[in-house]
Amino acid sequence: MSVIATVAEMQTWRDHATGTVGLVPTMGFLHEGHLSLVRRARADCRHVVVSIFVNPTQFGPNEDLDRYPRDTDRDLRLLEAEGADAVFLPSVHEIYPPGFDDWVEVRGPLTERLEAEHRPGHFRGVTTVVARLFRMIRPHKAYFGQKDAQQLRVVRKMVANLILPIEIIPMPIVREPDGLAMSSRNVYLSPTEREAALAIPHALALARRLIMDDGVTDAAAARQAIRDAILRGVGQKEEVGSPEDLASDESRPRLDLEYVSISDEQTLEELETIDRPALVLLAAHAGQTRLIDNTIVVPRGTAVPDHLLPLLDEHTSHRASS
Ligand code: PAJ
Repeated sequence: MSVIATVAEMQTWRDHATGTVGLVPTMGFLHEGHLSLVRRARADCRHVVVSIFVNPTQFGPNEDLDRYPRDTDRDLRLLEAEGADAVFLPSVHEIYPPGFDDWVEVRGPLTERLEAEHRPGHFRGVTTVVARLFRMIRPHKAYFGQKDAQQLRVVRKMVANLILPIEIIPMPIVREPDGLAMSSRNVYLSPTEREAALAIPHALALARRLIMDDGVTDAAAARQAIRDAILRGVGQKEEVGSPEDLASDESRPRLDLEYVSISDEQTLEELETIDRPALVLLAAHAGQTRLIDNTIVVPRGTAVPDHLLPLLDEHTSHRASS
């Protein structure tokens, strides 16, 4: 496995690669979610490149850039075991040389709501670094996780806007056995916060039941049910108290909900009526740690579109075979 630190070296490596090149862009501190992308790239492509770069331009001034977890030795061991051919580990100066002023931005509704609203400038940083990595590495295919559902759609739009000859392969969310979506940021969680965070996958499972099994189509009602489930927390029965009473009980682990959205799966426009494939997206803070998660929902009586089949959450996939 080649470990490459400079753009010049990366380009030389690329010039010598014949056959399909697959790229998995990451910020390191790898977990099974990242590795699922690497495995798929390994199965699809002759050459697999993984980039590890904690991209400063996608972090806001009050975000966790300085403390973002890093363990390069461990990452390299994991990637070697997965059979990656090259790991691109550039410094900030390699990606952003002095005087850098070549931003790549996707404009429009996709980059105005949800994550964009709560993390101003975030997607500009993401599209800029991904476009630079694409130019440096010139992959045929690039792999992105549905965990960052909005990012995946923004990157797809960027590729379409720039007419890049790169296929974006979306990959399903990999979860811990108890349902928490894997994330490099999960190491920040204290045991209490980790427990509180479980309310997120529970609320998403509730959303799937309401929309897919019970036939709820009123998005406002579904959003409220999700909010209440987050406020109540995991394992708390409704009859124990009102959501407000439970939320004010200081002894219980708390999540602060930032947003809950039920959006058109493709455009991410907010829905009033759930009458088509949709994404339930949410962001919440457990202590200092910001967590995002989402699930795909398809209204009862609507066939699951083929392109969504590989992305369905486990508990939803029974619909695919029925
Ligand atoms: P990072 O958070 O390291 O994630 C790298 C890739 O792994 C992204 O495509 C992300 O969606 C995917 N991923 C993360 N957790 C996952 C999970 N639990 N299941 C499946 N896939 C998962 O996303 C970024 O880095 C950066 O924004 C980047 C695209 C590298 C640009 O800097």
